[in-house]
Amino acid sequence: MKTIQVQSRNGKYSILIGDGLLGEAGSHIKKVSAESRVMIVTQPPVARNYLQPLIASLRKSGFDCETHHLPDGETAKSQREMFHLYERLLKGGFERRDMLVALGGGVVGDLAGFVAATYLRGVPYVQIGTTLLAQVDSSIGGKTAVNLQEGKNLIGAFNPPILVISDTGVLKSLPPRELRASMGEVVKYGIIRSPRLFSMLEKSEALFAKKDAFFFESVIAESAKIKAGIVSRDEFETKKERMILNLGHTFAHGFEQVTGYKRFLHGEAVGIGIAAAAKLAAALKICPASVEKRIVNILVRYGLPVHIKGCGLKAASILDAMMRDKKKQHGRLRFILPSAIGKVVVAENVSAAKIGQILKSLGAVS
Ligand SMILES: NC(=O)c1ccc[n+]([C@@H]2O[C@H](COP(=O)([O-])OP(=O)(O)OC[C@H]3O[C@@H](n4cnc5c(N)ncnc54)[C@H](O)[C@@H]3O)[C@@H](O)[C@H]2O)c1
Ligand SMILES: [Zn+2]
Repeated sequence: MKTIQVQSRNGKYSILIGDGLLGEAGSHIKKVSAESRVMIVTQPPVARNYLQPLIASLRKSGFDCETHHLPDGETAKSQREMFHLYERLLKGGFERRDMLVALGGGVVGDLAGFVAATYLRGVPYVQIGTTLLAQVDSSIGGKTAVNLQEGKNLIGAFNPPILVISDTGVLKSLPPRELRASMGEVVKYGIIRSPRLFSMLEKSEALFAKKDAFFFESVIAESAKIKAGIVSRDEFETKKERMILNLGHTFAHGFEQVTGYKRFLHGEAVGIGIAAAAKLAAALKICPASVEKRIVNILVRYGLPVHIKGCGLKAASILDAMMRDKKKQHGRLRFILPSAIGKVVVAENVSAAKIGQILKSLGAVS
């Protein structure tokens, strides 16, 4: 088992990473909480294999558990589901010292984390991320959110968990497309901070294809360490450092929005977004063409899309969507761009014409 510490306004919390940790969850949670009532929040594809082992482990450590089942998919991050969970907690007489345990991917973690931030002005919660994306990204850093009809993640809170448990064994049942897509975020960590992770990824496709437990443990630990370091220094995204986690995301949000969040999984949109950022960096002479090539190659090797050819997406529409997204940041067009493997720079005021050229080179139509 690997342990990584994260610093938050509430003190430190640990991320535990290893194969089979679900069966030991009770004893690990017992070390961070003296309380005994737990509401597990989960979704059907996760509950099928992992709810019973978790309940057994919690009961063995003296916890009294109930389970709240959310519907599957992003619809679970709705106000409706948020209120259902508040009502369930109220009816069950859950008090401020009782605890929520999120067992699932980013969707479950975001909703349970937000409800934990707001129910009775805040109750403790534990993140047991069961997707690769949750284990390398969403379960770390305390960002929680609920969607509105007007857009994703419009209601939210910074709410650090008391513990993060990442059992790498649960990744075996993940749909292959989900697993591949999340590698977009892993590649991102290599590019922003870790030439070592990037080189390791360049040599490890076969281990990924075999779902090698040691490969996943190393990749998750390295990614989690990078994210933990960044969010520990810039918990509330006020010092610019946390911004580098957005590599590829300005483009990705554009692709996701113009396709109504239906065509690409988030990690796939990030894959294309990272390829776009690498092309933009090379075009602006921020990195040499060889860096762009290495980045695009690694994305392709892990089965991520790197272009939008044949999708019929208009460059102007994507650009509009990106500008709308940017409005939230005072209208500034700002990109995180690789200058080398392991190093990024912030580029401001990139011209719309330049972005249009990059989008066209990716296969956008005019
Ligand atoms: N809070 C943050 O910092 C942060 C960061 C990135 C993304 N997010 C959010 O995370 C969400 C996406 O999360 P995700 O990619 O984990 O998707 P997800 O939570 O929708 O999970 C994907 C699918 O896999 C299923 N699943 C989960 N674990 C499984 C397992 N072990 N075996 C089989 N099936 C399993 C789920 O039920 C679901 O159908 C988005 O809502 C996004 O906004 C949050
Ligand atoms: Zn992302």
